[in-house]
Formats: sequence, C-alpha cells, structure tokens
Amino acid sequence: MSFLNSVKKGIILSGGTASRLFPITLGNSKQLLHVYDKPMIYYPLCTLMLAGIRDILLITTPKHKELFEDTLGNGEHIGIRISYEIQPKPEGLAQAFILGEKFISNDPVALILGDNLYHGKELFQKIDQPNANNNGAIVFGYPVKNPEKYGVPELGCNGQIKSIEEKPLKPKSKYAITGLYFYDNTVSEKAKQLKPSKRGELEITDLNNTYLKEDKLNVQFLDSDNYWLDTGTFDALLEASNFVRDIEKKTGNKISDLD
Ligand code: G1P
Repeated sequence: MSFLNSVKKGIILSGGTASRLFPITLGNSKQLLHVYDKPMIYYPLCTLMLAGIRDILLITTPKHKELFEDTLGNGEHIGIRISYEIQPKPEGLAQAFILGEKFISNDPVALILGDNLYHGKELFQKIDQPNANNNGAIVFGYPVKNPEKYGVPELGCNGQIKSIEEKPLKPKSKYAITGLYFYDNTVSEKAKQLKPSKRGELEITDLNNTYLKEDKLNVQFLDSDNYWLDTGTFDALLEASNFVRDIEKKTGNKISDLD
C-alpha cells in the first residue's frame, strides 16, 4: 500500500479571525462563507474524502464550533465521522498536530486548510510516491503570481527541494506550498519540537523543513489539469465563486456536493 493510501485520518483547520475579510467575518467563520452555492468548508472536506479519508477532526475557534456542528453534524449522514476540537488562539497551523494528538493516535494523518479549494482530475492518482516505507510527508506545490504570501520552495538544479521559506520577501521560486499536507505518525512529536516564529505561530513551513532535513519530504507539483484556489481576500473569494459557477454551468455537475 502506498503512503497516501495508508492515510485514513484527516484534520481540517478552520481557525483564525480572517481579519482581511472584515466586516463579513465579524459574526461568521470565513470557512462557512459561501463559495457560489455551498459553504467553503464543503470543498476541503470533499478533497479529503476524495483521498479516501472518512475519519475527520475539524479544529476551529471557540466562537465558531457550534456553527460548524450545525452545518456538518457528526458526518453520519454522508458516511463519515466528524469530531471537533477547539484551537483557543490562532497559534499556527502546526499546532493542529498537538491539539489533534489524541485523534491522530499512532496513525498517519492529512491536514487541509478550511479555506483552500482544490479542483482537478486525478489529483491523488498522479502522485509519484517513490518512498514505499509509508513514512515521511507529501506536500503540493502550485505556481502563483504572488509567492511572497505563501510558503515557497527553493529548487535545486535537478528540481529537488533545497528549503521552504514562509512568506519570503524575495521568493526563490514561483511556487506556493499549498494547504494540503500528508504526514506520517511522527508528526505530533515533530510539531512539539517546533518553536514559535516571529509572528508567534508554530509554522507548517518549519514542520515541513523538519521532514526535509530528514530527507522525507515529497513535494508534488500540481499539473495544469489541477487548480488550487485560495480565498483570503474579497477578490479571491469572488473569483472562487465564479470558478465554481463556471464549472458547474459547463459540466452540469455540482462540485464538492455533499447533499
Ligand atoms: C499558510 C501557510 C503557508 C501556505 C498557505 C496556503 O499561510 O503558512 O505556508 O502556503 O497557508 O494557503 P497563512 O494562511 O498563514 O497565510
């Protein structure tokens, strides 16, 4: 069994205050805003389900937990299991593996950010997994116009990853490391070793660099059949809605439909 197929648990992280989207997020969670015809959270949830994951931990803020429970319940109606955990303060993406330690137990786990949208054919079928030992990490690179807003890989002359920098002023490539990650069962231990960054967060980029130092980081670059959309600004949010609308009108099929 490949590493990816061995991952049966997933965490969706839907914390933060989304201050860039004030005032629409003053009384609501960003990840419950609509992207065209459904709540944003449906998209990352469906991405995990596409990866064969049916056991999901949703981590959110104390203020928004009930709203997510009203929207998704315990998942039974769609044949999955959803449990909930609170992130009291936005102290970084890598904190998910400390808050989720009990859920993870001794298993490998995926993390997806509640505001990241993936769309494409065979997203998971095409992954090259040379490491048959079922350990390490898989992350996804995607070309963007504004890499300085993301985790950015530095590539060597053979395309190998030399390092990843979080929001670099001078990005060393045009790629973002997107918000979907697969980790082996050492992830909670590794997360506990991290020190908060200058912005006071346990950075996912530092966690990925830990795997990289152990030569266990597999970076897959999404090809042109696949799309990754971020929803951090008003424009990006509108573009995501238009994207979903266009695809649904063109194909006549709803994407990430849970109902
Ligand atoms: C976070 C990560 C960054 C990643 C991005 C993807 O950024 O820190 O490495 O590229 O998600 O959406 P943030 O949401 O903190 O801006």
